Amino acid sequence: MKLQRVIQYAQSLLMQSIEKGEIAVDGTAGNGHDTLFLAQLVGVAGHVYAFDIQQQAVEATLERLAEHSVTNATVLLEGHENVAKHVQQEIAGAIFNLGYLPGADHTIVTKGNTTIVAIEQLLQLLKVGGIIVLVIYHGHEGGKKERDEVLHFVSSLPQKHVHVLRYEFINQKNDPPFIVALEKVKHFPR
Ligand SMILES: C[S@@+](CC[C@H](N)C(=O)[O-])C[C@H]1O[C@@H](n2cnc3c(N)ncnc32)[C@H](O)[C@@H]1O
Repeated sequence: MKLQRVIQYAQSLLMQSIEKGEIAVDGTAGNGHDTLFLAQLVGVAGHVYAFDIQQQAVEATLERLAEHSVTNATVLLEGHENVAKHVQQEIAGAIFNLGYLPGADHTIVTKGNTTIVAIEQLLQLLKVGGIIVLVIYHGHEGGKKERDEVLHFVSSLPQKHVHVLRYEFINQKNDPPFIVALEKVKHFPR
């Protein structure tokens, strides 16, 4: 297969933007797959900050990190809309998997307004050349509302500062997830 699947493509974007020793953010830790991926990408000299509002997700992520003897990540029981309270350093990249935690309560989902606040804060912290990847799941209750709010927001970002890409398979059934990637090309005025 030549066209990368959504998860593979998300990872290859992060691999392009993040280097060893840098800081990265997982906006939705969930079961910790992306936190682990980012922690391995930044290496022992780097650090990952991972956020989730569910205790179950924080525990699952900590467990996954421990299984792989990963110690360069901080997992916070905290909404990603508060990312700037915990991260003040420049970051090289971030990922969000929107939607609900697989195998848990499907009514606890990410929401457009808080996702947008988190993106705004991360865009300020992001290095030039850094990428924020959003994997947008929109098949669940509330998913289309969040999708539309996020798309409306990212479409209006100034192209002088951010390049916004949508990567999507358009002939698949059942609302497949798609990617929105934001590459910072110039710092914003403070
Ligand atoms: C699709 S799951 C993430 C899957 C995860 N990336 C993985 O590798 O398993 C979405 C997660 O976002 C979390 N979430 C919902 N609202 C949040 C918020 N405001 N801040 C941080 N996490 C949130 C949910 O609790 C859920 O665990």
